[in-house]
Amino acid sequence: MSTINKVKGTRDYFEKEAEILSFAFLKLNRIAKSFGYKWVDFSILEHAELFSRAVGKETDIVSKEMFSFKDKSERNLVLRPEGTSSVVRMILENKLVELEAKKNYFYINKMFRYENPQKGRQREFYQFGIESFNEKKYHKDVEIISMAIMILKEFLIKDFNLEINYLGSKKSRDKYKIALKEYLKKDFSNLSIDSKKRFEKNILRILDSKDKNDKEILKNAPKITDYLESDEKENFFNILKELKENDINFNLNPKLVRGLDYYNNLVFEFVSSDNKNIGAQNTIIGGGRYDDLVEILNHKKNVPAIGFALGIERLISASPLMNEENLEKEEILYLLAKTPKEEKYLNRAARILREKYNVLIKYNSDKNLTKRIAQAKKNGATHIGIINKEFEKTGNIEVKKI
Ligand code: HAM
Repeated sequence: MSTINKVKGTRDYFEKEAEILSFAFLKLNRIAKSFGYKWVDFSILEHAELFSRAVGKETDIVSKEMFSFKDKSERNLVLRPEGTSSVVRMILENKLVELEAKKNYFYINKMFRYENPQKGRQREFYQFGIESFNEKKYHKDVEIISMAIMILKEFLIKDFNLEINYLGSKKSRDKYKIALKEYLKKDFSNLSIDSKKRFEKNILRILDSKDKNDKEILKNAPKITDYLESDEKENFFNILKELKENDINFNLNPKLVRGLDYYNNLVFEFVSSDNKNIGAQNTIIGGGRYDDLVEILNHKKNVPAIGFALGIERLISASPLMNEENLEKEEILYLLAKTPKEEKYLNRAARILREKYNVLIKYNSDKNLTKRIAQAKKNGATHIGIINKEFEKTGNIEVKKI
């Protein structure tokens, strides 16, 4: 019989890598809480329609990358490819945004996308995400960018650029789409196959085409920010002003549209410039506003909303902090019996010690005690507890820090 290996694009975490992952979770958790955000969790399984309505039928995520299947009752289900749609579904289903309640949530969850695996791109990956509802003031946009920067700083990531764009409302985008179509029409036959397909269905995505020829054609394309209404321009200006006042550097990138259709107004990405540790998949964080999504998912009125998500594996690869030497060293006591006769006391003794220590019982007491202590030290014990025959009478346990 052949062995059964993990599914393509998935990953196991154990030993050192599992510890690094849990260290990253703890840090992210702490940062989100320091901003007053609350932890939420939601199902891996969702109805396929949630993402076709929220993320958009024509996006790569929905049209090509979902793990989708029918359950035994013929429902079309998917493994969630992202968290924003699920959080919006959750707040609507549980009436969490009634009466203009301001809500700030975060999650650490596995996402699934059927992409071609490569460095930094898996089919199953962890995202840390934040989603914030009912705050339309532009200061909120600055707040969440500040949180993203704090995360990068806390993970000691220095080589990154913040790319920013402003997509405006649907009305402004529709005006812009007409202008872009007009501009691209004359070069249609020279566009890449992918861009030709996007021309009718999702023209904005042509803007972030990686094709060399497309990039050349796009050089003098009209800018989306020239099609904004005056109040949108003012809002964008205010955000940029406050970013500058907070010493936050950014690049204006009029071609940044993001791969999900629910965005309006501000969109941003943090892109790593560390070519050594990060491969071609160099966007660590992506996010923006999605003020229309709550309404799209069937709420009576729209609810201002903004958030971002980051790939935890990408964050770890880019972070010099995330290696073994920097792990917070956990204290652990190895509990040994002096001879096999005392092994029967080990569980009882461990119960007492666990009030103060993390305790791992080592049962192989037939070997030489000095050798076993040396072995425990090598395996990471910070303390040793030895049970000898006195334990029955006195309850004493000899504990040594090593
Ligand atoms: P996204 O840009 O699709 O946005 O993903 C966010 C981050 O998840 C990416 O920047 C990347 O770090 C990570 N990521 C995406 N795909 C993969 C993959 N195949 N392997 C490893 N990491 C990956 C969203 O998902 C939006 N929901 C973000 C958001 C939240 N917008 C508003 N709120």
